[in-house]
Amino acid sequence: MARHLITSAIPYINGIKHLGNLVGSQLPADLYARYLRGRGHEVLFLCATDEHGTPAELAAAKAGMPVAEYCAQMHQTQAKIAEGFAMSFDHFGRSSSPENHRLTQHFAGKLAEAGLIAEVTESQVYSNADGRFLPDRYIEGTCPECGYDKARGDQCENCTKQLDPTDLIDPRSAVSGSTDLEVRETKHLYLRQSALKDNLDAWIDSKTDWPVLTTSIAKKWLHDGDGLRDRGITRDLDWGIPVRRGDAEWPGMEGKVFYVWFDAPIEYIACADEWAKANGLDDAAWQRWWRTDMGADDVRYTQFMGKDNVPFHTLSFPATILGSGEPWKMVDHLKSFNYLNYDGGQFSTSQGRGIFMDQALELLPADYWRWWLLSHAPESSDSEFTWENFQTSVNKDLADVLGNFVSRITKFCRSKFGEAVPDGGSWGPAEHQLIEELAARVAKYEALMETMDVRKSAQELRAIWVAGNEYLQSVAPWTTFKTDPAQAAAQTRLGLNLVRLYAVLSAPFIPGAAANMLTGMHASDATWPEDMMQYLNALAPGHAFTTPPVLFAKITDEERDSWQTRFAGTRS
Ligand code: MF3
Ligand code: ZN
Repeated sequence: MARHLITSAIPYINGIKHLGNLVGSQLPADLYARYLRGRGHEVLFLCATDEHGTPAELAAAKAGMPVAEYCAQMHQTQAKIAEGFAMSFDHFGRSSSPENHRLTQHFAGKLAEAGLIAEVTESQVYSNADGRFLPDRYIEGTCPECGYDKARGDQCENCTKQLDPTDLIDPRSAVSGSTDLEVRETKHLYLRQSALKDNLDAWIDSKTDWPVLTTSIAKKWLHDGDGLRDRGITRDLDWGIPVRRGDAEWPGMEGKVFYVWFDAPIEYIACADEWAKANGLDDAAWQRWWRTDMGADDVRYTQFMGKDNVPFHTLSFPATILGSGEPWKMVDHLKSFNYLNYDGGQFSTSQGRGIFMDQALELLPADYWRWWLLSHAPESSDSEFTWENFQTSVNKDLADVLGNFVSRITKFCRSKFGEAVPDGGSWGPAEHQLIEELAARVAKYEALMETMDVRKSAQELRAIWVAGNEYLQSVAPWTTFKTDPAQAAAQTRLGLNLVRLYAVLSAPFIPGAAANMLTGMHASDATWPEDMMQYLNALAPGHAFTTPPVLFAKITDEERDSWQTRFAGTRS
């Protein structure tokens, strides 16, 4: 048994996330957390809302609400939707928590002590029309790197380059659209990342098991042009964590706050503190996950995120941690994702294009979406959601293969033997061959889940379902029953035990259906299979069950077409 710390990139507070956001971080993180718990490991799985910065302020302004109130409300909304998708977070925190205020100010103090903070008087874009500075997303323009014309002041969504507002070509205010902008002087704190370049380089080199997508993005920005640029970690904004040096005031920085990308990853740590407090635990309880001097040395820490987040997790956040000189746990494995596109274009929060998490749950239960999204996760390249593809996957994989297997075997048993595992007969070559095949496939499934090969894991799981279906099809207990009821009983016994096996193996992907299958089988023991032969004998003759209701309904062509039309536009 090992200890696994798992974090999902924390979603911005500025609205309900779309399915592309979900599949890039929270969902695969949940898959991994559920799998590891299923294998008996100790897991701490954390997520939170990312509540500071310009996205929060802009969204609150649009909603006509004070930003603190907006964040509190939207946090509740996001928490409820995450629950709807069966996210098994141990804690869903808030980056605006007192714990994160304290830790963020603590890190800033430590970095200053280490000589890694510079006070810089810099030029910032000021909007005369808006009467304010325009940091980050308050400003939009053309990316100097790739020419994308909707690049934001902090980062280009298109090429992932981290930007400063003054880098943008043809800049305009995101609040008013005004181009009446001027450059004014203001004082800010800079994190001297460049001083940590060699440390970071060596650290990234030591991560030989990182996926290529992760390492190549990290290395690209580490060695880009003049290397790792020092970055401003404070902003002229009202909403955020006030700039302090530990517990002390920071002269000259009154009224300024930390930059959202400085405090957001620190929330991964603060969230563990929030988790401990919420559960009445002491500091040691969360520090054993995060402090290497408190036992976190044997923790394996895995982060999940979309590719646009990689630079912050491989460079900025590690710079904060390394620079503090304190024994904080650093990430071991970083799983990043490409983008999911929607029906010939991009999912877009700002443009309201695609399917959003709340809308998805109004159409179908979480398992349908979880299965499609995970089995089509954008791993080696971007992938695309189309309604045809979704319909095919749901109808074939979930309804025809898994759902049909479960309903066929349980209904057959009920009609011929009653709702209990039948006695009699014995297993022959067909059964032994199936058990051998399953043992091999489960081993492969485990290996793929360990390495977080999400799509391939889904394929292997499907193959495991198919094997049961093919077995049932070939031995056909409904035919055997006419000539040899004892033999049919033995076949049925195996089939019923397969339902429990499938529930346990499938739970990380489709926890709702898995729970229904286990309940149906009256199976209280859901431990992971070790010895396949033994496992498939666990539900012994006489063990009662209840035929479960239909697990998955097929999506009709009419539904598919109406949903496609309904989601063709944008939502406001
Ligand atoms: N809110 C960011 C996004 O959705 C992710 C923040 S991850 C963290 O892209 F590291 F900052 F926490
Ligand atoms: Zn760009």
